[in-house]
Amino acid sequence: MSSKNELVERLRNEDARLFTSPIVSDFIGKNQHQRYNTFMSIESLDQFAKTRLNKLAKKGLRRSVINTNRRDAVHLHRNGRDFVSFCCNDYLGLTHHPAVKQAARDAIQRFGVGAGASRLITGNHELYAILEEKIAALKGTKAACVFGSGYLANTGILPALAGPGDLIVIDELGHASMHMGARASNAQIATFRHNDPDNLTKVLASSRHRLRKCLVVTEGIFSMDGDRAPLDEIASIALDHDAWLMVDDAHGFGVVGAGRGSAFEFQPAPIIPLQMGTLSKAVGVYGAFLCSSAPVVELMKNRARSLIYTTGLPPAILAGAIAAVDIIGTDKKRVAKPHNLAKRFCANLGLGEPESPIVPIILGDDTATMDASLELEKAGYLVTPIRPPTVPQGTSRLRITFTAEHTMAQIEGLVDAISPLISGKILRRNTSEV
Ligand SMILES: Cc1ncc(COP(=O)(O)O)c(C=O)c1O
Repeated sequence: MSSKNELVERLRNEDARLFTSPIVSDFIGKNQHQRYNTFMSIESLDQFAKTRLNKLAKKGLRRSVINTNRRDAVHLHRNGRDFVSFCCNDYLGLTHHPAVKQAARDAIQRFGVGAGASRLITGNHELYAILEEKIAALKGTKAACVFGSGYLANTGILPALAGPGDLIVIDELGHASMHMGARASNAQIATFRHNDPDNLTKVLASSRHRLRKCLVVTEGIFSMDGDRAPLDEIASIALDHDAWLMVDDAHGFGVVGAGRGSAFEFQPAPIIPLQMGTLSKAVGVYGAFLCSSAPVVELMKNRARSLIYTTGLPPAILAGAIAAVDIIGTDKKRVAKPHNLAKRFCANLGLGEPESPIVPIILGDDTATMDASLELEKAGYLVTPIRPPTVPQGTSRLRITFTAEHTMAQIEGLVDAISPLISGKILRRNTSEV
C-alpha cells in the first residue's frame, strides 16, 4: 500500500463518519492529489486539537462537560448520584418556578418553539415589547433592549458605541465577554485595578484626553469574587472625565437592591447610563438586556451586530422571562433570601460578611482546590472548583452560590463538610485582597 493509501485507510478506521460528511465525500472521486491534501489537512487539524488538549492537561487545566440533570434549583443528578448544588446562578430558584414554567408552556402552545428569524426580520415577537417594558419599569430607565444572551449583549453593545480613536477602560476582573466586546470595537483598551477608583482616575487622567469617546465598564457584583463595585465613586469619576459608564449587573439584578440591581444599593442610586443585566441567572431563563435611554436602545437595534445578525429568542424564553421579572418585582422575600443565606453560611464558618450570594473560598493552589471539590462531591455537595484562566493565576477557589431554595439544614451540612477541608488553608477573601 502506498503511504497515501495507508493514510486514507487509517483515517477511514479512525472515524468512519468522516466519509459520510459531504465535504469529504465530495473529494472522493476527485484527483488523488486533492484527496491527499484534504486528508492531510484534516489530520493536521486533529493534531492541532490534540496538542492543545495535551498542553492543557499537563497544566491541570483541561476541562470537560459532565452530563447533569438539574431537578430544581438545589437538587441535581449526575453519574448515577444525587447532589445538593451550591454552584448554580439560579439565585431565586426561578428555573423551576411553577409560574415561569407555565408561562413558557403556554407560549409554546400559542406561538411554537422557535423565533424563525432575526429580530429585524420576522423574529421580533410581541413578547419582546412586553418584556422590555417590564425590565425598563423595574430598573427605572426610559427603555430596554433584550439580547440573545449576556455574552451576545456585551459583544454587541461595546462595538455599537465605540470604535477606533475611542477608549474603553475595563475593571481588570471584568467578564470575558466585556473584553471580547471591547476587542471587537477596535477602540483602545485599558484596564484599571479591580474596584480601585484611584487607579481608574489615574488611567483616565493619563489617556482620556488623547481619545474621542470613552466608556468605563465594570460589573455590579463580580461573578467570581462576589464583591460589589463602588459604583457611586466610579460613576462620579466617569462623569468627571466625560466617560459613559456601563455596568454589567449579571449577578446583581434580581438579587440586590430589592431585586433592581447593584445601583439600588446606593442612596441615591448613581447615574449609570448603560445598565446591562442577564436573564439567565436570577431571572432563571436565558437572554440579557441593556437598560438605557430611548435613542441608545434604538441605536442597539440598528448597530449591535449580535442583535441584528442572530435569530430572535424563542417565544417560550421571552414568556418565561416575563413571568420571572414579575416575580422579582413583587416577591421581595424571595429576592432577599440568597444573600441572607450566604451571610448565615459565612457566620457559621467564621468568615467575614459576604457582599452577595456568591462566596469565594480562595485556596490558591489548583490541585488543592480540585481535591477539596472532590471531597465535597463525596459528601454529596456540588461546589465547582474555579481555576485559571477564569480567575487569575494563584487564586483558584471554591465558588459557593446560594439560592432562595436552599434550606438551613443543607447549609449547615455544607458547613460541616467544608470546615475540615479549608481550615487554615484560606489564602484570602477575594481576589483584590493581598
Ligand atoms: C458578569 C457576566 N457577564 C456576562 C455573562 C454572560 O452571560 P450569559 O450567560 O447570559 O451569556 C456572565 C455569565 O457568565 C457573567 O458572569
